[in-house]
Amino acid sequence: MTNNNDITVYEVGPRDGLQNEKGVIELHDKVEFVNRLSNTGLRKIEAGSFVSPKWVPQMASSANVFQQITRVESVCYSALTPNLKGLEAALEANVDEIAVFAAASESFSQKNINCSIEQSIERFIPVIERALENNISVRGYVSCVVGCPYEGNISPNAVALVSQKLSDLGCYEVSLGDTIGVGTPNAIINMLNVVKDATPVEQLAIHCHDTYGQALANIYAAIEAGVTTVDSSVAGLGGCPYASGASGNVASEDVVYMLEGLGLNCGVDLGKLIDAGNFISTQLGRASQSKVAQALAQ
Ligand code: HMG
Ligand code: MG
Repeated sequence: MTNNNDITVYEVGPRDGLQNEKGVIELHDKVEFVNRLSNTGLRKIEAGSFVSPKWVPQMASSANVFQQITRVESVCYSALTPNLKGLEAALEANVDEIAVFAAASESFSQKNINCSIEQSIERFIPVIERALENNISVRGYVSCVVGCPYEGNISPNAVALVSQKLSDLGCYEVSLGDTIGVGTPNAIINMLNVVKDATPVEQLAIHCHDTYGQALANIYAAIEAGVTTVDSSVAGLGGCPYASGASGNVASEDVVYMLEGLGLNCGVDLGKLIDAGNFISTQLGRASQSKVAQALAQ
């Protein structure tokens, strides 16, 4: 187990959770959702993304979300930025942190951001430089770290290479995404063992989807391997528009419950988190996918 008892829960619900929703979600509901999350003790909230609205229409209101939320000083509000155009919009919206997003699979990179892995890294160089010049911290994502919907199994070396490049370019943290949720603990550990050789484990986060019900087991394995930042999405919202079959992200409520059981501190109030998850689930017209929220509702 990690020596450090503090785990950061990086809430991605307002972005990763909602980006794939087809129906209209009213702006005031998105704002209320982020505001509720802001009062749970979370320190990191990914509140939107500045991507092409043709590619991801649901995120087109991100600038308005950032403008209207009530910011809590202890919370870092972040957004995805695939290129300089996105970065300019993010700076305008006064984000605290941006994220660039690459993949360990060529096919996924093409489907998701319409360029090769190498081209994406080239594209990120000025984005990262300009963000850092503006004192905005930069996070990197690597998608498909164990499996890809188009290419099947992904080599840990491919993940290590992209992670190292993102870290070398100035990303303070690289989030490793099991985008389609096919990983099992052994696959996660094998991948991490290779990635850790090139990028210090303190700089790695784990981002699990629960398609095959493995997310919590995979997160536990990653924590055992020294990872101290866990991405999750309240109510288990999510899926990825370019990863067919990807179910929701692991539910934040379930992660927090597990961390509490392990005696690890994340500073998040589980009751308030469940309220935020139930709020957005009600707006979406369906039940929360969090097992903990379901159990405590009975
Ligand atoms: P492209 O079509 O190659 O780009 O898309 P382009 O430069 O030719 O631009 C096309 C149009 O988009 C132009 O508009 C641009 O102005 C506009 P038009 O002239 O046709 O009217 N445009 C933009 N508009 C607003 N904001 C921008 C922007 N950039 C261009 N930033 C591009 C390339 C990267 C833009 C596109 O592919 C894109 O936006 N992709 C984003 C896809 C996305 O958001 N995917 C989901 C996030 S990744 C994920 O979920 C995985 C992750 O969660 C980890 C995991 O789960 O494993 C991170
Ligand atoms: Mg995701």
